[in-house]
Amino acid sequence: MSSITTRRFLQVAAVSVASLVLAACGKKEEAPAAAPVAAAPAPAPMKVYTVGTDAAYAPFESQNEKAEIVGFDIEVVQAIAAKAGFEVKFVNTPWEGIFNALAQGDRDLLVSAVTITDERKQSMDFSDPYFDAAQLIAVKDGSKIARFADLKKLKVGVQTGTTGDEAVTKLQGKNSKDIKRFESTPLALKELESGGVDAVVADNGVVVHYVANNPGGKFKTVSDKEFVPEQYGIVVKKGNAELLAQLNKGLAAIKADGSYDKIYAKYFGAAPGAAAPATAASK
Ligand code: ARG
Repeated sequence: MSSITTRRFLQVAAVSVASLVLAACGKKEEAPAAAPVAAAPAPAPMKVYTVGTDAAYAPFESQNEKAEIVGFDIEVVQAIAAKAGFEVKFVNTPWEGIFNALAQGDRDLLVSAVTITDERKQSMDFSDPYFDAAQLIAVKDGSKIARFADLKKLKVGVQTGTTGDEAVTKLQGKNSKDIKRFESTPLALKELESGGVDAVVADNGVVVHYVANNPGGKFKTVSDKEFVPEQYGIVVKKGNAELLAQLNKGLAAIKADGSYDKIYAKYFGAAPGAAAPATAASK
């Protein structure tokens, strides 16, 4: 018996003795609560971690018709949790406040297609990488844009504070008036559709998925080797080594037993490491 269950048993026993004493004192109005003394003590409840995710980022995280949060990231974290022996509760959390919510302790971890960057590492801790990504340019079908450098003087839509935002800010300069920042990547892509921007720069998996699922938008994508390779990590509050170790252990376990590959294939149709970038699963 672990010390917690021992303590519990003693608590239950103490309560039962107290009820007997009360009963003996003739306090009849209140029937003593049924003493669960014979029942086995309930197993210690599993720890439930609150997971922040900006669920406007299919196929990684989005809300289905029933407003449930679903996606590749969600299934990866659920599989990790099952291995590591904790429960997870996903809470839709706007990207712009997501790191703050973690720092404040409102979320225990984040899974939100978050790219591991040196700058972010200063203020948060990342799990081992679980997904490879890169920036990708979305333009309208007839566009002459052929490479990233072509965007230097054009109107470009990005999601505020993402690595796409960083890349375009670096290209155009901090004070550029041509960068249109949106609170979500789908909003930036809608703006491209309506002609408000000439291009959108965002994570390849999300752009490919959006273009495939919005044929009416008449988009095409442009890749460029100039974009640095990115990797996604699960994020914990700086210093939360215990949870980080659990996440890394769980991640290694789902990679080793094939469950990671299964989830990957469900969303991207090919085994990880296959040459093709994230392809769109119409989910
Ligand atoms: N990978 C990019 C970054 O870390 C964008 C992630 C945005 N994620 C989201 N769920 N909106 O900056």
